[in-house]
Amino acid sequence: MTSRTTDHLPTDRDFPESFLWGAATAAYQIEGATGEDGRSPSIWDTFSRVPGAILGGDNGDVACDHYHRMPEDVALMKQLGFGAYRFSIAWPRVRPDARNPNRAGIAFYDRLVDELLGAGILPWVTLYHWDLPQRLEDAGGWLNRDTTDRFVEYALTTYDALGDRVRSWTTMNEPWCSAFLGYTGGQHAPGRQEGAAGLVAAHHLMLAHGRTIDELRRRGNADDRLGITLNLTVAEPFDASEPADVDAAERVDLGFNRVFLDPIFRGKYDEALLTDRDHHQWNGRPWHEVVRDGDLGVISTPIDVLGVNYYHGDGASGRPHPADQLLGSATPQPERPTVSPYPGGQDITFPRRGLPTTGQDWEIEPDGLTRLLLRLRDDYGVPPIYITENGAAYPDTVVDGTVDDPERASFFAEHLRATRDAMAQGVDVRGYFAWSLMDNYEWAYGYSQRFGIVHVDYETQERIPKSSAQLFSRVAATGVLSER
Ligand code: FCB
Repeated sequence: MTSRTTDHLPTDRDFPESFLWGAATAAYQIEGATGEDGRSPSIWDTFSRVPGAILGGDNGDVACDHYHRMPEDVALMKQLGFGAYRFSIAWPRVRPDARNPNRAGIAFYDRLVDELLGAGILPWVTLYHWDLPQRLEDAGGWLNRDTTDRFVEYALTTYDALGDRVRSWTTMNEPWCSAFLGYTGGQHAPGRQEGAAGLVAAHHLMLAHGRTIDELRRRGNADDRLGITLNLTVAEPFDASEPADVDAAERVDLGFNRVFLDPIFRGKYDEALLTDRDHHQWNGRPWHEVVRDGDLGVISTPIDVLGVNYYHGDGASGRPHPADQLLGSATPQPERPTVSPYPGGQDITFPRRGLPTTGQDWEIEPDGLTRLLLRLRDDYGVPPIYITENGAAYPDTVVDGTVDDPERASFFAEHLRATRDAMAQGVDVRGYFAWSLMDNYEWAYGYSQRFGIVHVDYETQERIPKSSAQLFSRVAATGVLSER
């Protein structure tokens, strides 16, 4: 009889057994139930009603109805074998008004955390995924320094309610979007287009982050994993022989990556952010007058983990190009006119570089992720990294009750390979969350872009795991990328 011992040899793994696998969502994108249990309106409830702001005029009133279907959704994650679930807490549920915490709103997250733990899934909490209570925006939003006090208050309320069971706390998700799409470009809530206001908002968001890390640390739980999630890019000149493109790429790197990385990991802002007088005036004054003594020390409070969201790199140009050669031109865009989210960056364009693109017309550049991870280690000496979002939108179709999405599956496979390549070069990456667990409300794109590994029928709310979910589930179970 032939011995079959090779069947029992350990497989070479691409990822260690300790690697954390999960999927991510955000409150406003999936919960619905916006008027229930005392939740007050957020800036997204307001902004989604601004004419032309959202493709299809959609809002998150119902979304995936997750608020009512949470146990089924957790069961689905368990079935897919996920070790962790990254979700966000809706601030307007927890602190709907200026008075006391809202018990009914907190109760939902209490149940969610218990459900997850019962299913053996680690809860990974994000405190702010963009749903600022509208009442605070009415008082100036992230341009008002007092909002940082309100954030700390909300964060502590949440920690006091869930901190006995949750060990992973992310302060902010992608503050770049909140600050620069929200206050400079106007693509996101609150939809303001006020130039250097984005820098002011970014500073206050980071201050709220640093203060919260400091406060949570004082709570003294040695097992806490405290951090922030940044969306980061690899900015390159569209044409390296064009000085205008080289300059545009530097400005994108500064205004997207370094505006957060420098203060958080080096405790300073680059001089170029402080001295460009034409573009960095807010309310008639240099924006950085909002930076007070001690702020940068607070912002650079050490964190335990860095969350990295990566979707694509950027090939920036400082010159005009025909509209149909610009990225994004192949998909419908919201009607409301917007401006560049880079203060003073109206000349920056992103022409096609000949790379493949997703269904949303976003470039696919997996090796950019490897380079980004190496840079984070080499230039910033960052703490352990978790990829907290990565994924792609495609127009999926249901055929005979199944959804086959090979393009999304290969997107994941390529980016996981890129992650593994960085790990092989010594970068400490400890986990990966797919964006997203399920199709959901994609901000200014409404329901037109499907990012889920689980398909959602918005009429019936039926969930169907796509073939990419099966791939992901297999990789999570085996730690092996391709069949060998
Ligand atoms: C990120 C957001 C997330 C989702 C993906 C596609 O910028 O954090 O909510 O919209 O993009």
